[in-house]
Amino acid sequence: MNILIVGGGGREHAIAAAVARSRKDPSIYAVMSKKNPGIAALCEDFLLEKETNVEKVVEFAVSKNIEIAVMGPEAPLAVGLVDALEDAGIGVVGPRKAVAQIEFDKAWARNFMKGSNIAGCPKFGVFTEKAPMDAFIDELGNVAVKPAGLTGGKGVKVMGDQLPDLAAAKEYAGSLLEGDSVVVEENLIGEEFTLQAFVDGENLAYMPTVQDHKRAFENDLGPNTGGMGSYNEAGGILPFLVEDDVVQARAIMKDTVKALREVTGAGYKGALYGQFMITKDGPKVIEFNARFGDPEAMNVLPLLETDYVDVLSAIATGTLDKLDVKFSNKATVCKYAVPAGYPDNPTKDREVIVGDIGDALLFYSSVYEKDGKVYTTGSRAVAVVGMADSIKEAEIKAQNALENINGDLHSRRDIGTSDLIQKRIDHMKEIRAN
Ligand code: AMP
Ligand code: GLY
Repeated sequence: MNILIVGGGGREHAIAAAVARSRKDPSIYAVMSKKNPGIAALCEDFLLEKETNVEKVVEFAVSKNIEIAVMGPEAPLAVGLVDALEDAGIGVVGPRKAVAQIEFDKAWARNFMKGSNIAGCPKFGVFTEKAPMDAFIDELGNVAVKPAGLTGGKGVKVMGDQLPDLAAAKEYAGSLLEGDSVVVEENLIGEEFTLQAFVDGENLAYMPTVQDHKRAFENDLGPNTGGMGSYNEAGGILPFLVEDDVVQARAIMKDTVKALREVTGAGYKGALYGQFMITKDGPKVIEFNARFGDPEAMNVLPLLETDYVDVLSAIATGTLDKLDVKFSNKATVCKYAVPAGYPDNPTKDREVIVGDIGDALLFYSSVYEKDGKVYTTGSRAVAVVGMADSIKEAEIKAQNALENINGDLHSRRDIGTSDLIQKRIDHMKEIRAN
């Protein structure tokens, strides 16, 4: 079987590695904007091109007799690459543009959730004018402010975090009005977690819950990043969650998939990413993404016991209910090495030298290969994943691996350590007690 992977980051390297483990001996092809050495090594052939160049990607897929194309990042979804590939007769694992809106239009996503009575939707309003928006900010008293679209640069800001008070919230929300509509919502208090599922249009196969770490520095300090690392617990339920939290989050995902079909007429196909806040009132939805998380894909895909090519075929043909999708009962810890100064002022074009990483897994992310050497680009560079029976052992494997990756790099020592996990547990205990 000929399989095309669209995208060239750590998440896509994890996707390629999972396809390469298949007993079906698939031939792997890729489209990526820069040569990811990890993906390139697993491929028969690759196209160096922007993933959003729909015409070029379809042409490449047709020329390579691709049977299934697997989408990595969100940008090609928003320009309709899935629609174009399907129209060319190619099976796709990734949602069509109409359903992918759930990620790239935050105002649409919230209105959709409310209109379909999806549980876990926070109080929110979508605004194009300042006066009613300011009144709503006052009414809620504690808010998160988001531009409605996928805006590179200016993003989500939250009170108590990037916004010191109501005046700052109003000022920031006002500044966003110039370009876009603005979503104002209640500030959800709790611990964040990620629940991902494979979806075939109708049926869902849930993955283990994962926690990402967005802040650049240890102890959750510094600016937000794409994610510095993540972990999961053996058995699939994070240490600060109880089983009922996961049951509720799964039901929200399932209801969302059903409602997406009713509202858009298209079934959701691919990995669906639910970003949740577990609050004193149960799980609330921060957002949905129409793809795997990065780094979260690197936690769950190595645990997949079911042949990934069978999973991909079942998604593309709508037969996921007939497949028993299993994950091994292990913990993982993923840690990213990022360029010094990332995200605000990163160094670039510095060599990355990978030494002995033991039995940890290595995923290349935003790097490029030149004359057999690997260099940084300014974004997250390489990730390592430790896998073991406990988070503690997995963390040691990941950290030991990081110590043997050299370059002008930075990483978070604390991700997956017992101290940090205890803080999460204590935080939730306190919230649930009130
Ligand atoms: P992103 O949308 O990935 O740029 O990041 C948004 C981040 O802002 C999330 O990971 C949360 O930490 C935070 N956030 C977004 N919405 C809310 C909300 N309603 N309440 C509290 N925090 C939020
Ligand atoms: N880890 C966050 C994301 O992939 O959006």
